[in-house]
Amino acid sequence: MAAGWNKLDGAKALVDSGIDRVPDFYVKPLDQRLSPQDLALHADEIPVIDVSPLLDSKPTSSDRSKEDVIAELLDASERWGFFQVINHGIGSDLTRRMLAVAHEFFQLPLAEKMVSYSTDIDAAVRYGTSVNPLKEVFLDWQDNLLHRFLPERQDQPHPWPTKPSSYELIAGEFVDQAKFLARHLLRALSEGLGLGPDYLEGEFGEHNVALRLNYYPPCPSPELAIGLRSHSDVGGLTILLQDSDIVGLQVKVQEKWKTVRSVPGALVINIGDQLQIYSNGKLKSVEHRAIVNADKARVSVGLFYDPASDVRVSPIPKFVDTEHPAAYNPCVFRDYLKNLYSKNLVGKELLESQRK
Ligand code: OGA
Ligand code: NI
Repeated sequence: MAAGWNKLDGAKALVDSGIDRVPDFYVKPLDQRLSPQDLALHADEIPVIDVSPLLDSKPTSSDRSKEDVIAELLDASERWGFFQVINHGIGSDLTRRMLAVAHEFFQLPLAEKMVSYSTDIDAAVRYGTSVNPLKEVFLDWQDNLLHRFLPERQDQPHPWPTKPSSYELIAGEFVDQAKFLARHLLRALSEGLGLGPDYLEGEFGEHNVALRLNYYPPCPSPELAIGLRSHSDVGGLTILLQDSDIVGLQVKVQEKWKTVRSVPGALVINIGDQLQIYSNGKLKSVEHRAIVNADKARVSVGLFYDPASDVRVSPIPKFVDTEHPAAYNPCVFRDYLKNLYSKNLVGKELLESQRK
């Protein structure tokens, strides 16, 4: 390991220093590592859904109606908590440029990325490595940039990272389009749950949107390290854009890890903890993780469409009755987020701690 490297410098700086083995504090305990059978399984049960009927005001060439699509989205969200979408309205040119600028960001010199280093969970732009590198025993083999678009700050100029110079234009356009898609998906789920299209949006209030760029450098022993530990997403809906030719996302399906295939042009969507709480467990926020490989750096870009920070989330009365008592305690979303960073949790422990 290069002299002078420290944990905060992260996984890419470690690889760039020329290591040939994985340092002990990146070697995950056996039960969290990748096993050879995990690599053999693909999550083919996760459906790929053409969502154009939801987005177009005019009738489309699709032979499926809006109602058919809503039924498919709901079924996937109840069964797997994950689905992929195609014909989602975000052009392939923009997704390609978004992935390219994400790669470019992580290629910047460490000192330039560290300008955005912060431990303040309210910071609008926060660069870092793993989840809580100074506290955790085993780090994740990744670096990330978390970029939040806070509704309460809309009257102030947004603090865009200034490098790469094209980031603001490309990420700004991607966030706008991904928000549009997320809003339509949320409306469809709301309708599918029998709540009417506006209900969940109303619950989310002045929703929070965050963009997260993940960078997974090549790893000399991918079977020892994990790129992003098993977790479920904390918020509402996640839209994930993956590098087109490098897989890495794995989903826990019936207690087995399965790799999500990369479908050209598709975006991966998953349900977060708050939607599981609102629906009193009908919609599933499912455990997933990212694995690493020995050959190529991978990036992914997640758009998190979440309730506003001050919203108190609890099961919606429609889903609560004597047979289905409220399964979760109410929690203000901001407090839920705070727990994510203050406790060293894995898997669905955070959501489970919210159970009545
Ligand atoms: C996330 C996430 C998976 C990936 O950012 O929450 O699950 O493949 N990412 O990077
Ligand atoms: Ni996730």
